[in-house]
This record gives sequence, C-alpha cells and structure tokens, in this order.
Amino acid sequence: MTALRRAYLKRGYRKVGGWLFPYSARFIDGLLDLQLEADVRGAVGEIGVHHGKLFILLALGRRPDEAAFAIDVFGDQHLNADDSGAGDRGIFLANTRRWLAAETGRLDVLQRSSLEVRPEDILERSGPVRMASIDGGHTEECVINDLMLVQSVLAPKGVAILDDHFNEFWPEVSSGVARYLLDPSARLRPFAITPNKTYFAAAEDVGFYRRSLRSRNDYYYEKSARLLDSELDIFGTQPWTFSMKKRAIEWIKATPAGPYARALRRRLAR
Ligand SMILES: C[S@@+](CC[C@H](N)C(=O)[O-])C[C@H]1O[C@@H](n2cnc3c(N)ncnc32)[C@H](O)[C@@H]1O
Repeated sequence: MTALRRAYLKRGYRKVGGWLFPYSARFIDGLLDLQLEADVRGAVGEIGVHHGKLFILLALGRRPDEAAFAIDVFGDQHLNADDSGAGDRGIFLANTRRWLAAETGRLDVLQRSSLEVRPEDILERSGPVRMASIDGGHTEECVINDLMLVQSVLAPKGVAILDDHFNEFWPEVSSGVARYLLDPSARLRPFAITPNKTYFAAAEDVGFYRRSLRSRNDYYYEKSARLLDSELDIFGTQPWTFSMKKRAIEWIKATPAGPYARALRRRLAR
C-alpha cells in the first residue's frame, strides 16, 4: 500500500462526502492489494462517484500506467431517476485534485447516465477493468444495466462491487440483482458481502477470491451463505463484531505481549 493510500484510509476518506463504511473501505483496500500481488491488471472505476469517496480509494490502488474512469450524471440531475445522492462535478474534481495530483494514471470522467454508456465508451478510453464499483442509479433498470455493462468490460479476474444490495431503502437494487443473476447471459457471481457492499467476479474466479479473502480477513469472517445458486462469504457486517475484534486486537498489539502474539499468529497462519 502506498503512503498516500494509507493516509487516505486513515483520515482522508472521512472528509470526502459520500457513503462508505470503515470496514468496507479496509476490505476494498485489501482487495486492491490482492489484485496487485496476483498480477491482475486493468483500469479501476466507478458508476456513481458523487464526491469521490470510494473512487479516490480505487484510483489510489492503481499502478502508474492504469486508468481510472468515473461515470456520473453530476449536474444533470434530471437523469437521476430515483434521487440516489446528487453528484457534483466541481466537488468531485477538487477532491481528486487534492488526493490524486501525484498519480500518473489517466482519469477519464464521463458526465452521462450509465444507461447511455456503451462498453466501448469505457474500453476505448480506459481499457479492460479490474475493479469497478456500481453505485449510480438505484432503480432495477440501472442495476441490471450497470451489472451487464461492467460484466462486458471486466478484465480477467476483474471484480465488481455493488452498493446498497440489502438496503431496505433501495429495494430495487436487490430485485435488479436477482433478475441479473437469473438471466442466462449473466456471467458474474457474488462471492462476498461486507457492510453495504456485495462483490462479484466471473464464476471461474470466485474460488480464487473466496480462498484468498478468507485467509486475509479471517478475524472478520462471520459466516458463509447462499445467494440464489452462489455460495459466498460474509465479513464484518455486525458492527459490534468488527469493533470489538478490532479493539481487542489493537489492545493486544499495544501490550508487551504484542510482538509475540503477532509472531504466533503468523506461525499459525502458515
Ligand atoms: C449514492 S451516490 C454515490 C456515492 C459514492 N459511490 C461514494 O463513494 O460516496 C449515487 C451517485 O450516482 C449518480 N447517479 C444517479 N443516477 C445515475 C445514472 N443513471 N448514471 C450515472 N450516475 C448516476 C448520482 O448523481 C450520485 O452522485
């Protein structure tokens, strides 16, 4: 992880307007590292960036030659069919300038409804995508469209992250996912859930992500479950579990026994 990404995770992202639970931010950060280690290559990006809270974290996880794409209706809020958070291009660009000025990768901003975006619009600008967040319109139409769009631009071992899948305020997100998963042309399958985020990959890559993420996030693993025909893992969704475990770990680390506990944990993990 770069020093800038560490600083953004520690204090930066809390100051950027938007919606991102702390544990999900950490989990996505680990997913970015996992892709770097596994040599998964491609652009990163988001549909529905608002002020850039998650987008900046994704862009800070790029290699220098990888692009980041941002799609939002921004000021064209008449295209935001269900008022799912109003994007603001000026604030978004100011936040990206603040955090991404030192980054050399391309930044491709499309002010458009995702319903009007074709796969070529992303592929021609940014290339195949290794990590895409879907958090634009929360209607069934948008969710199905955005999952299909991301499916057609994903690089090998690429991941899609969907927001609000189980949020009772946005029921169309879950019906959109169900319709997508039941569509014979759907190639993505869910493999993990963290607070307010569901993670998808091509069926052949699900095993890789489940194995790798279980071992990296063992403290926060809660249970496995089925979603339609897919088996997936749930991490950090119970706030008390996450915060109590985190506090207990920090407390042990700070005691004189901390280094021994860490060495023991490393040995057991091997
Ligand atoms: C919930 S906010 C996104 C929050 C953001 N991902 C974050 O990290 O905080 C939803 C965003 O989607 C945008 N939006 C709504 N409908 C859209 C559409 N059809 N196409 C693209 N963007 C859309 C809104 O303008 C808003 O900025």
